Amino acid sequence: MDSDKTEIFIETKRLYLRQWKPEDKKVFYELNCDPEVMRYFPSVLTLEQSNELADKIIALIEKNKWGLFAAELKLSGEFIGFIGLHVPTFEAAFMPCIEIGWRLHKHFWKKGYATEGALAVLDFGFNSLNLSEIISFTSKQNGPSMAVMERIGMKRDYSGDFDHPKIEEGHPLRSAVLYRINKQGFTGFNNKK
Ligand SMILES: CC(C)(COP(=O)(O)OP(=O)(O)OC[C@H]1O[C@@H](n2cnc3c(N)ncnc32)[C@H](O)[C@@H]1OP(=O)(O)O)[C@@H](O)C(=O)NCCC(=O)NCCS
Repeated sequence: MDSDKTEIFIETKRLYLRQWKPEDKKVFYELNCDPEVMRYFPSVLTLEQSNELADKIIALIEKNKWGLFAAELKLSGEFIGFIGLHVPTFEAAFMPCIEIGWRLHKHFWKKGYATEGALAVLDFGFNSLNLSEIISFTSKQNGPSMAVMERIGMKRDYSGDFDHPKIEEGHPLRSAVLYRINKQGFTGFNNKK
């Protein structure tokens, strides 16, 4: 494990959240081409699309010093997916905003990693970036993602339900829910090492 050679932005009990390494892209494609991981997205990604997305994420972290961080298991050094912050680029009533998001390889589901990393990302957003509010959204069908939002203290804004403009009309994943949390509502992060 050579995280010391990569800039680490956040450390939790079990994770480093850091800039991506070139070798992360291989595992990122493994999860992006997996229909189970991509069940709540319109399609799986090709290798080219997956690498393009990784490069975009890497460039944004390079520029802003924050973003959709690569999540690495401290114990094994494995890249497990991303957890971090992003500025969505579509038109919606709740823009401008900063969203929190996550996508993990299915080998690493059901271990609490998304929740652990996301709590640390909220702490980073509110206390290092001094954001006043962080939002999250997902397809109405994405129960596992909504469960993470709820576990980290986000509240559903029922007036914020929307049709995702990047998903075609009539598509079953188009109908989306909106969750919010503000700095006052964030009760803290105590899962540091
Ligand atoms: C969304 C996603 C990250 C959620 O993963 P997850 O494994 O359900 O969530 P967590 O990592 O927080 O793990 C929580 C689960 O681990 C369990 N767990 C096991 N060991 C644990 C531990 N040591 N600490 C905490 N929780 C633990 C919890 O009980 C919980 O299980 P439950 O849901 O049965 O109650 C995952 O489903 C995913 O990557 N999906 C594909 C991409 C996606 O849809 N992203 C969102 C797009 S908006």
